[in-house]
Amino acid sequence: MNVVPTIADVRAAVAGARARGETISFVPTMGALHEGHLSLVDAARRVGGYVVMSIFVNPLQFGPNEDLARYPRDLESDTRRASERGTSLVFAPSVDEIYRRERTIEVRAIRLGEEWEGASRPGHFTGVLTVVAKLFNIVQPDFAVFGQKDLQQAALVQAMARELDLPVEVMVEPTVRDSDGLALSSRNQFLGPADRMAALALPRALMKVRAAHKSGVRGGAELERVAEEVLAAEPGIDLDYLAVVDRRTFKRVKTGGAHAAAIAAVRVGGTRLIDNELLES
Ligand code: PAJ
Repeated sequence: MNVVPTIADVRAAVAGARARGETISFVPTMGALHEGHLSLVDAARRVGGYVVMSIFVNPLQFGPNEDLARYPRDLESDTRRASERGTSLVFAPSVDEIYRRERTIEVRAIRLGEEWEGASRPGHFTGVLTVVAKLFNIVQPDFAVFGQKDLQQAALVQAMARELDLPVEVMVEPTVRDSDGLALSSRNQFLGPADRMAALALPRALMKVRAAHKSGVRGGAELERVAEEVLAAEPGIDLDYLAVVDRRTFKRVKTGGAHAAAIAAVRVGGTRLIDNELLES
């Protein structure tokens, strides 16, 4: 596996793979790789022979009071894991390589992005979409793979590709969880044992909504109440938001239909966690 720091290196490596007739698939990440990220590499390998992963902690998507400085970074262990999983090329640029010129342009959502994560983290999605657009143009993949864990992000990236006619197919893969149910996240390492116990109320609440939906409960407000009761019973958790939305629009639904999803964000100690469950069947 190759690890390269410049845009020119990526372009040359990808051009070589294309010349050999390979399909290019792409997994963007901020590193601190865990099984969730690596499951995206598995999905990328299923659709494309040449798998590019980017590892870049994107300053543009962090707010002034967020955890940019303490975001975990370990390029050596990340590249080893990416390589063991069958990644062909890791693009690990510096901040200057990505934002070396004065910025004039950004990619901003006019819908889908104002509520939930967008409301709690002003500017976050503009930072995400701007860097993802740049990475797509640098790598020029046939397929790009994102995690359901960040459902609103995935919906926005799909909308960007569709509406800006980017020649890439955006795939969304299921959330990978620990055996106790907590969705894998690089931020989980900040949870102490008591925090972790409290955090488990989040997947428990979402699973309970899913079970209620499965057993025929359809009212959006009623489904939200099911989850709120579970979360309210856990004193170690502060609720940021919890909602049953249509995953295509991210608007609250009155009735949970085929595209409904329960989405939530909480704080446990100083750590912010998000999770979701699709309510499809
Ligand atoms: P990061 O948080 O590193 O996540 C990279 C990808 O891994 C995202 O598509 C995310 O949804 C996915 N992912 C994270 N945890 C997962 C889990 N438990 N199961 C399945 N997939 C999971 O998301 C970002 O980075 C950035 O915003 C990025 C898209 C790279 C732009 O900077």
